[in-house]
Amino acid sequence: MAEFVLPKGSRPKKGKVWNKTLNENGKRPKGVKEFRIYRYDPEGDGNPRIDSYFVDLAECGPMVLDGLIKIKNEIDPTLTFRRSCREGVCGSCAMNIDGQNTLACTKAIADISGPVKVYPLPHMPVVKDLVPDLKLFYAQYASIMPWLQTRESPPDEEWRQSPDDRALLDGLYECVLCASCSTSCPSYWWNADRYLGPAALLQAYRWIVDSRDDATGERLDVLEDPFRLYRCHTIMNCTASCPKSLNPAEAIGKIKQMMVRRKL
Ligand code: SF4
Ligand code: FES
Repeated sequence: MAEFVLPKGSRPKKGKVWNKTLNENGKRPKGVKEFRIYRYDPEGDGNPRIDSYFVDLAECGPMVLDGLIKIKNEIDPTLTFRRSCREGVCGSCAMNIDGQNTLACTKAIADISGPVKVYPLPHMPVVKDLVPDLKLFYAQYASIMPWLQTRESPPDEEWRQSPDDRALLDGLYECVLCASCSTSCPSYWWNADRYLGPAALLQAYRWIVDSRDDATGERLDVLEDPFRLYRCHTIMNCTASCPKSLNPAEAIGKIKQMMVRRKL
């Protein structure tokens, strides 16, 4: 009989309960929300654990990131997560909240019933707690050559586009490279070493359709591969999870259409 062994660090245990406060009836006071947060130090010996923290929402901002910052500042300074802008524009606070990949700074606590369950982005190596290792993700982004390639020298002033050409970039340039889409994709989970994933492919399409770029053929050549592009099986988790309401699945579909058309 086949025997499966789960890799080290893959099975979270029940962890520590911090600052649990009960009122005189032995119940949690109204307005206090439980946060159940994944904790893991890969350099330690133990498995990951799920710690519980209790946050008085009357003294906390409205977003999940506000709760995490309050916990780190007032309860447990060892809790580790990334964040920068707090406005949904830097992409650094992406994590799995209430079962969905999203940005902690734009996810409202009020939209979550029951405890706020917070995990790192799935299927990525963990650096610590809620911080995934994104080295491969950024290498994949670099591989699509995310810069303008032109045969002409740049104009003295701005590089003009017609309104219609500029509109082709809508729904693409807004990507904040948070990795929510790629890390929600089963094809990416199983083949991240060879499949570029929805975020890198959406960015590839952003440069392919840029009217100022002259490297369309070379860009498509780089993607013409059974894994890099065609490992997308239109599962659509990417589009469902994008916190900026972008549609990576559509961008990938358009690249596939261009691949077919250039062979006709
Ligand atoms: S497409 Fe959306 S989910 Fe994917 S990296 Fe860009 S902003 Fe994040
Ligand atoms: S902190 Fe920048 S997107 Fe959340």
